[in-house]
Amino acid sequence: MSVEERKAAGAAFNSAKERIESALEHRRAELALSKLEARLAEEALDVTLPGRGRGRGGVHPISRTWQRIEEIFGSIGFDVADGPEIETDWYNFTALNNPENHPARSMQDTFYVDMQDSGGLPLLLRTHTSPMQVRYARMHKPPIKVIATGRTYRVDSDATHSPMFHQVEGLWIDEDISFADLKGVYVDFLRRFFESDDLQVRFRPSYFPFTEPSAEIDLQFASGPLKGRWLELSGAGQVHPQVVRNFGLDPERYIGFAFGSGLERLTMLRYGIDDLRLFFDGDLRFLRQFS
Ligand code: DAH
Repeated sequence: MSVEERKAAGAAFNSAKERIESALEHRRAELALSKLEARLAEEALDVTLPGRGRGRGGVHPISRTWQRIEEIFGSIGFDVADGPEIETDWYNFTALNNPENHPARSMQDTFYVDMQDSGGLPLLLRTHTSPMQVRYARMHKPPIKVIATGRTYRVDSDATHSPMFHQVEGLWIDEDISFADLKGVYVDFLRRFFESDDLQVRFRPSYFPFTEPSAEIDLQFASGPLKGRWLELSGAGQVHPQVVRNFGLDPERYIGFAFGSGLERLTMLRYGIDDLRLFFDGDLRFLRQFS
C-alpha cells in the first residue's frame, strides 16, 4: 500500500478493533449481570420472615421443690449436705441397723452395681438418702442438724413410684432432741412448704430398723383429682441407739430424730398431680404449667 492508503487503512483497522473490543466488553458485562441475577433469585432470603426465637427454659417442678426445701430448712439452722448416689452396702443398710437377712437388701428392691469399693464392699445405687445420716454424723460433732437431698433408686414403677426418685433426709442429734421436736419441726416445714396452716397431717406408727419409735407421715390432698386422699410423704422416727453408736456417738448421751421424705410426693401434693411419672416424661405441655 502507498503511504496514503496505509494511513486510511490503519485508522479503519483501529476503529474496527475498538468496536469489537467494546462489543465484547459489553457482552461480558451483560452475561455477568444475568449470572448474578440468577444467583440472587436462586438464593433469595426473605428478610420479612420472623426469626426462630430460642425457647425460654423453666425450672422443673421437682427442682423447685428441692430449692424450697433447702430454703426452709436453711432458714431454721439446718446445714445442707450432699452425698454419693453409688453407695456401699454398709452405709445403705448395715450402718442403719438393717439385719443381714432384711428383705430390703434383696435384688428386687435394689440396683446393684457390678463393682466393689476399695475395701471389697458391694456397691449399689442408694435406695434412700438415709446413708447420708451416717456419713454426715461421722464427720461432724453434735449438735448435728442437717438435711441432704438427692436422687435415690429402687426397682419400682407405678403412679406413685419411679425407679429414680428424690428424697430429702433430715437429722437432728443433740443431748435432748425428742419426738416432740420432730413433730414441731416437720409440721412447721409442711406449713411453710404448702403456704397453709390448714393441713391434714397424720403421724402413723410404723417400723424402720434405724428408728425406734418409728412413724410414717401422711398428708391429705387438698386439691386436684385425688382431693381427700392420703399420700405417704415421709418416714421418720427417733434415731435407734445402734445407729447413734454407728455415728460414733454415745447413745446414752445423744438422742434425736430423723426423717426421709419424697420430693415427688411433696410436689404431687402441692400441685394436685395424680401421677408421679408425669415428672419424667419430658412433656412440655405438662412442664410449662410450672414455669
Ligand atoms: N429411708 C426410709 C425410706 O426410704 C425413710 C425414713 C424412715 C427415713 C425413717 C428416716 C427415718 O430418716 O427416720 O423408706
